[in-house]
Formats: sequence, structure tokens, C-alpha cells
Amino acid sequence: MKVIRTVRALRKHLSSVKGFVGFVPTMGCFHEGHCSLMRRAKKENACCVVSLFVNPIQFGPSEDLARYPRDLANDTRRARTAGADILFVPDVAEIYPSGEPLTFIDLKGVTDGLCGVSRPGHFRGVATIVAKLLNIVQPHSMYLGQKDAQQVVVIRKMVDDLNFPVKIIVCPTVREPDGLAMSSRNMYLSPSERAQATALSKALKLAHSMVSAGESDATKIIIKIKKLILDETSASIEYVSCVSTSDLRAVRRISGDVLIALAVRFPSARLIDNTVIKFSDDKKISR
Ligand code: PAJ
Repeated sequence: MKVIRTVRALRKHLSSVKGFVGFVPTMGCFHEGHCSLMRRAKKENACCVVSLFVNPIQFGPSEDLARYPRDLANDTRRARTAGADILFVPDVAEIYPSGEPLTFIDLKGVTDGLCGVSRPGHFRGVATIVAKLLNIVQPHSMYLGQKDAQQVVVIRKMVDDLNFPVKIIVCPTVREPDGLAMSSRNMYLSPSERAQATALSKALKLAHSMVSAGESDATKIIIKIKKLILDETSASIEYVSCVSTSDLRAVRRISGDVLIALAVRFPSARLIDNTVIKFSDDKKISR
């Protein structure tokens, strides 16, 4: 695996690659979630490019940019083991040579709800860096995690609207054995918060059982999810929403594919999780 730090060196290297290029954009602090994307990208392409860049413009002023976990030695080892061919690790000046860029990518609608409410400007920063990285790497496919469901919808819309010639592959959320979705931010949790955090996936499982038992009223499902989280944790709930998987508009009834997404705040960390209720031929299939 080659570690490359400049756009120029990356472009030079990629110009000699024959075959498909699969791309995994990341902010580092690799866990099995990231590694699953890398393994899939490697399996399906001649060359797997992983970018590691903690993108300052997607963090709000009171967010965790300064303390975001960084461990390049460990990340290099994990990316190599997962099959990455190139680890692209630019510094901030390489990506934003004149400081904040003058050009941003703003999307309407899909960035307003869910995490967009408490993180204004976040998805603008995400869309802008992903567009830049797509222009730099020019991959055939890009691998994203379902863990960040709203990010997937935002990036899909941007790729469609701006005609980026890239296929988006969404990979399932990788979880700890007790159900907690893996996240770089889980390490902020205190031992007691970590134990309580299993309530998130438990609540999403409960939603599946309710739908399987015939419940289709989104409000009733949301109330049950909130109750379980409030009963079992000291976290405050930022949102629990049932939305359409394609445009993230709120739905009242569970019919068609529905994304159930939530965000909670523990004193030490903000966590998100989600699940998709799939409908096929009027038959409910839980995933
Ligand atoms: P980061 O949080 O490092 O995540 C990189 C990729 O890993 C994203 O596509 C994310 O959805 C995926 N991922 C994270 N946890 C996962 C899990 N438990 N299971 C499966 N996939 C998981 O997302 C970002 O970075 C940034 O916003 C980025 C897209 C790189 C732009 O800066």
C-alpha cells in the first residue's frame, strides 16, 4: 500500500492504474465499519483508494474538530490489512490552499431535516469535500456506509445533480456484538454511557418487531422508540424520525421503503443510528 500526501502525486500514480478504481472517503480512526468498505472496494476493483482527511469545513464551531481522534500509524496498518492500495492523506493546506474555499456545494431539502437541524452547514461541508475528492480521485465506484444514512442521500443527490460519473455502493452498518453501531465517536463515551448506548439498536429492533406485528403508524413507532431510549439511558433525544429513503421526507405510515433514523446526545458524545424497513410486494421484510 502506498501512502500519498499530495494531489499531484496521487494523480500521477492513478494515471498508471489499469482497471477499475474503487474509492472509500474517510476521516480516519478506522474500525471494522471503515475496513468493511475497504475490503469490498478491493474485491470489486483493480485498485482501492482510501482517503483520510479530517475535513474542517464539515465541523461546526462548537463541534469536535480539535479532539477528533487521529492515529495515522494504526490507520495505515488497518488500511493495508483491509486491502487498500493507496492511502491518500492530504493535509488541510493541500485540500484548501487558500483557507476556506469560495465554492461550496449546497443542496436543498435533504440537508434541512434530521442531523441538518442541529448541524447547520455540516452537509454543505460533506458535499463540498466529497465533490473535491471525486474530482481528484475520479473513481469508477465510491463506497459509503449506511450508518450515515442522510449523508448517503445527500451524496447520491449531488452525484446525480452534477453528473459525476461514479457508481455509489452503500454497505451495511457494522455493529459491535451488543448491537452498537461502530463509530469513531464511540470512544468518547464513558463506561456507563457505553453500556446504555445499546438502547439505540434495541429501539430500532423494537421498531422492526412492531412493523412485523402489523403496526404502520409512524407516530406510534416513534413514541415507543423514544420511550425505550429515555427509560434505558441518560441521553437526551435529538430526533427520532420515519422518513422516505429517497428524499428524507417524513412519512406518517410505514409503507414503501422507510428509513427510521435517530440521534441522541450523551454528555460525552452525540450518537446516530438508523434502520431501513423494506417493503416488497406488500410483504414486509425486516432487515
Ligand atoms: P467517516 O465518519 O470516517 O466515515 C467514512 C465512511 O465509513 C462513511 O461512508 C461512513 O458511513 C462509513 N462508516 C462509518 N461507520 C460505519 C459502520 N459502523 N458501518 C459501516 N460503515 C460505516 O463519513 C465521513 O467520514 C465523512 O463525512 C466523509 C464522507 C469522509 C467526508 O468527509
